[in-house]
Amino acid sequence: MEKKWWHNAVVYQIYPRSFMDSNGDGIGDINGIISKLDYLQQLGINLIWLSPVYRSPMDDNGYDISDYEDIAAEFGSMAQMESLIAQAKQRDIHILMDLVVNHTSDEHPWFIEALKSKDNPYRDYYIWRKPAADGGQPNDFHSYFGGSGWAFDEASGEYYLHQFSVRQPDLNWENPRVHGEVHAMMNRWLAKGIGGFRMDVIDLIGKEVDAQIMANGKNLHALIRQMNRATFGKGDAVTVGEAWSATPADALLYSGVEREELSMVFQFDHIKQFWDEHAGKWRSKPFELASFKAVIEKWQTALAHQGWNSLFWSNHDLPRAVSKFGDEGEFRVASAKMLATALHCLKGTPYIYQGEEIGMTNVRYETIDEYRDIESLNLYQERLAEGVSHEEMMQGIHANGRDNARTPMQWDDSPNAGFTTGTPWITVNPNYREINVAAALAEPDSILWHYQKLVALRKQYPVLVYGDFQPVLREHPQVFAWLRALDSERLLVINNFTAEHLTLDIPHQMQNWHGECLISNYAPRDRLAVSIELQPYESFALLIGR
Ligand code: GLC
Ligand code: CA
Repeated sequence: MEKKWWHNAVVYQIYPRSFMDSNGDGIGDINGIISKLDYLQQLGINLIWLSPVYRSPMDDNGYDISDYEDIAAEFGSMAQMESLIAQAKQRDIHILMDLVVNHTSDEHPWFIEALKSKDNPYRDYYIWRKPAADGGQPNDFHSYFGGSGWAFDEASGEYYLHQFSVRQPDLNWENPRVHGEVHAMMNRWLAKGIGGFRMDVIDLIGKEVDAQIMANGKNLHALIRQMNRATFGKGDAVTVGEAWSATPADALLYSGVEREELSMVFQFDHIKQFWDEHAGKWRSKPFELASFKAVIEKWQTALAHQGWNSLFWSNHDLPRAVSKFGDEGEFRVASAKMLATALHCLKGTPYIYQGEEIGMTNVRYETIDEYRDIESLNLYQERLAEGVSHEEMMQGIHANGRDNARTPMQWDDSPNAGFTTGTPWITVNPNYREINVAAALAEPDSILWHYQKLVALRKQYPVLVYGDFQPVLREHPQVFAWLRALDSERLLVINNFTAEHLTLDIPHQMQNWHGECLISNYAPRDRLAVSIELQPYESFALLIGR
């Protein structure tokens, strides 16, 4: 496999609104991020995925962009953004800009022009259709944020498509002028010295609207290749495409080296399998290890020699990792460390979502008005109107709502967790007095230092980066274990995914293995035996015979 500089990199995702507020208005901002660069450097990460900071009316917290080349006033200025890029670079950290080009804000000048008349030169930047024969919407496409995916424009008597909110009109990627504008904009960002792009819902740009094919449309890969050639392909940038629809076969198309598309895709198989077939994320299924193992193994195997995996348990759209896959209670620390070890010992590029490194948890606000996320708010109204009860919908929001990940970063035990001196835009998780960065820094055994160690190991041991993934103890219902193998080196990774004490029978040929314990969340183990007693959520990685 051809080596790339970002293969041993670790990405840290910042959701700017919730990271650090520097001026007391209750909203995180760029100067707040700059003030925490030393913290991130100490953690050892190399890339920051920066959720959108562009100018935006914030209907979807910045995923609705009204100017790609200006910064939202509440986040700062372009001068501050350039300073962030420069100050990060001094610490060997590169910024991945979150690029949202499936849609813009309805306040983007292109859309304002498009609304003016049917023959406006910008009309065709968006997707318009005449009403259906009965005068209604062109087809029954439903928006991901509730309601119809079509919005009626009185003035022209036509509908425009919006896969997300009505304030996020979809761009028309069948119009070559859109390509030209987007490519030029991307090149201007690259010229500012950014490290690359995270590409929002990139699988939707090739859509075939009339056939109602939204994800994975026939032009998708041609559009990405064209973008690669016109922009980031000329340099050394890293690109990660968000693709909810991707199968392993798609991922090989996106991330195969000779394809010249993206560095990697961010796919959600391991997340979606715990959603209900009908109610989706709003009715969550309990975590179940067997299918989780099967999915991870499927991706590790499919992308073993071609393509590259993104590794993550959480992001700004998902519940907190420890709440979803571990234990928020008694075993919060042990399970958060276990999850970290598991993630960082798989093959691919690990992503740490802000707060994950201190084991932040989900929130359970009782009333809907504590919530801010447009998706939760819209779907709450829609589902209640369909007869779903308040309790059931709140359960769904508690389990999978996006605000779980968006409560303010917990820096210390001062009021509002040290995130702001003002009133935060969303209520701080009440557990900040115990769970915060200051406490984690002061505790040598904290989740935070465990993450720091894992990030450092990746730089030191090529087996973690390039070693083949080989499942072991495949049928075990409570333990997820695998080997990584590179040349003569073998790394054995064992994770107890339960709160139980287990006696683990070791396969015969491994019983005399011994070596160096690279990381563990209980006493380090340097050898195996006929069987070993695993503690709740115990995990360790053993480097054999070096
Ligand atoms: C992506 C983003 C999400 C956003 C949506 C629309 O899924 O991660 O936060 O709401 O795209 O841009
Ligand atoms: Ca602020």
